[in-house]
Amino acid sequence: MDDYGSHPGGNPQYWMDNIVREYEYQQHLVSEEKEESLYSIVRIINYFRYLYGISAPRILDIGCGPGTATTLAKFILEGVPDSYVTGVDSSEQMIGVAKSRLVGEYGQRFIGYVSDFNNQNFWIPEINRRYDFLTSFAALHYLSDNRMFPFLKEIYNHLETNGVFVVSMGNRSALPKIAEMENQFRIEFTFNQLTPDRRPPDFRQFKANFEETDSKANINWHSYREWVELIEDAGFREVDVVSHLWIRTTIVALK
Ligand SMILES: C[S@@+](CC[C@H](N)C(=O)[O-])C[C@H]1O[C@@H](n2cnc3c(N)ncnc32)[C@H](O)[C@@H]1O
Repeated sequence: MDDYGSHPGGNPQYWMDNIVREYEYQQHLVSEEKEESLYSIVRIINYFRYLYGISAPRILDIGCGPGTATTLAKFILEGVPDSYVTGVDSSEQMIGVAKSRLVGEYGQRFIGYVSDFNNQNFWIPEINRRYDFLTSFAALHYLSDNRMFPFLKEIYNHLETNGVFVVSMGNRSALPKIAEMENQFRIEFTFNQLTPDRRPPDFRQFKANFEETDSKANINWHSYREWVELIEDAGFREVDVVSHLWIRTTIVALK
């Protein structure tokens, strides 16, 4: 399982400067039905916190981003009463702005740290504890192949008994024609989000430019079937896809 493939993982240098400053706009361009997905994750967390009677859930949000209005960390703080969220991200700039926004608004309910999940020393002392929930939205497709399985096992080990892992990541079919269809739909979505004055006349040229820019982030695409299998192999008792839209899947995994 350690030799799952040779993809080195995402490019951590991608997540700085304009990408941080224009995060909301970028997400508006690339993330179809993002808010619906974030609401679903909040519903899932609330469902299990009430089922298990957890009064003040402790949550680690991996790849938390900048804490803007449409990020998972912000949705959890807003929608999961009495929750405590630790956000972790490899980008110092992301954590810097997340802290200024979320600590400003939610005080001690949010704390943020810089750490890289592609580094085997990811679990720095400040985050190395057990949580009721581990969450991640649109980040784990930046894991390297080498780290995928070990990191899923580490996630399992950092959950309380009855802990829940709720993850939504980008994925792509392993079947080439279907994968190309998903890729096409993804780019069409961004094209259609642009206001007419910003939309180039030629879609083919736009697609070529999109693919060039996109390659800078270096996404490690896998199918959701591969993800489900790996999460099961990491030890989770029940694992299933609970929602799926084109290249994004939300998976719930119970310890
Ligand atoms: C698309 S953003 C998602 C942000 C946020 N979760 C949200 O709900 O919008 C991906 C985030 O993953 C972070 N990231 C990428 N590679 C990472 C790594 N190796 N370790 C930790 N975070 C990483 C990026 O810095 C970025 O903030």
